[in-house]
Amino acid sequence: MSDVAKLSIGEHELELPVIVGTENEQGLDISKLRGMTGIITLDEGFVNTGSTQSAITFLDGEKGILRYRGYAIEEICKKCDFIDSTLLLLNGELPSDEQRETFRQAVISDMQLPEGMVKLISAFPREAHPMAMLAACVNALSTHHQDQVDPLDAQQVQNSTQRLIATLPTIAAYIHRHRTGQEFVAPNAELGYVENFLTMMFADEQGHYEVDSDFVDALNLLLIVHLDHEQNCSTSTVRVVGSANTNLYASIAAGVCALWGPLHGGANEACVNMLSQIAEDDGDVAKYVGMAKDKQDGFRLMGFGHRVYKNYDPRARIIKSACDVLLEKLDLDDPLFEIAQALEKVALEDEYFVARKLYPNVDFYSGVIYRAIGIPVELFTVLFAMGRLPGWIAHWQELHASPSKRICRPRQVYTGPELREL
Ligand code: ACO
Repeated sequence: MSDVAKLSIGEHELELPVIVGTENEQGLDISKLRGMTGIITLDEGFVNTGSTQSAITFLDGEKGILRYRGYAIEEICKKCDFIDSTLLLLNGELPSDEQRETFRQAVISDMQLPEGMVKLISAFPREAHPMAMLAACVNALSTHHQDQVDPLDAQQVQNSTQRLIATLPTIAAYIHRHRTGQEFVAPNAELGYVENFLTMMFADEQGHYEVDSDFVDALNLLLIVHLDHEQNCSTSTVRVVGSANTNLYASIAAGVCALWGPLHGGANEACVNMLSQIAEDDGDVAKYVGMAKDKQDGFRLMGFGHRVYKNYDPRARIIKSACDVLLEKLDLDDPLFEIAQALEKVALEDEYFVARKLYPNVDFYSGVIYRAIGIPVELFTVLFAMGRLPGWIAHWQELHASPSKRICRPRQVYTGPELREL
């Protein structure tokens, strides 16, 4: 295809540039269309709209391919931990040993929360949803670092990046302990990132907790597969908010809110609730598949379907095999894993799901691992946010580094009343 597309609208004959990506993806640049013709494009839900050029993540939904900075997700999961993958995402390259150690130490030594944040978490109603607390905490963190909120100051952005990555596990663990009426456990500079999170979550009040290396590996894997997924709902939200030169904390808080929704990151919680409901209903998988197909019902199989994947989600494949390994190692039988597999089998053979190319997504099996580790279901989406955080930041930074950055401001086709008199 040439790098120019010819478009004919009424009396207008136009030539529009075609932008070609490194994997040969093509995007029609319509930014001048309105100026030339007075016409805009209309694409509700941004089904066919590219909002940016990005060098962070490549995914091919038809082939089921996901790569961070050019590396296949399957390979990253085998060879990297969360800190390596975070640096890969943020910097574009895997870290040297020295870079990894410097960053790891800086993050671990920054995990402690300011006293005001501890008080803030303690003040939330215990029964409130953890995602509401998380969004509030991320925004509130900036109030303790008011000299670090200039989005155009590279050093301040770097400090805020490090602080957010360092403190999110602490915030998550303290939210859990507050909800369950337990004393907070301070981070331990001797422990790794994931080890610290597990200890702050599950230690007794003297701070004792035997870290299980299988849990550390499983959690590292889950955090990595959630790291980034190009222009998804929450990442696009972070970019849109950031485009107004809003500070990093506030942009990330907006991303947390977008992630919360059950059609996006909240699907992991909704999926386990659905599997529990099926279990209580004698494991009647066929009934729920029938409900999902019934357009009058409004019920959807949670953890199923994806805007971009029209093939098996590679993240779901990785998580499913990790479930097998972890449950076998722990000698655990999780009835919800059995139900999930049975549900997948029935759905994948059903004409409705086949015709619409609906497959399990990242949220379908992740809950099985979270449950095996002991993470309560209401905290699942908070764990997703912990994984997605570096992805959000990488996109926010890419946006600010772009010479073509402009405030994100879509247009509309107005359908309300014409001018009328009062
Ligand atoms: N169960 C039953 N039917 C479904 C499902 C589902 N989970 N997902 C899509 N469909 C059907 C729709 O009813 C529609 O059918 P139709 O063509 O007969 O009207 C068709 O498949 C296409 O669905 P859309 O809603 O148009 O697809 P869209 O790309 O807008 O939505 C989404 C994608 C939101 C992920 C959707 O598949 C869904 O609601 N899934 C369940 C929630 C979920 O698991 N979300 C997590 C996604 S991964 C993530 O964000 C981390």
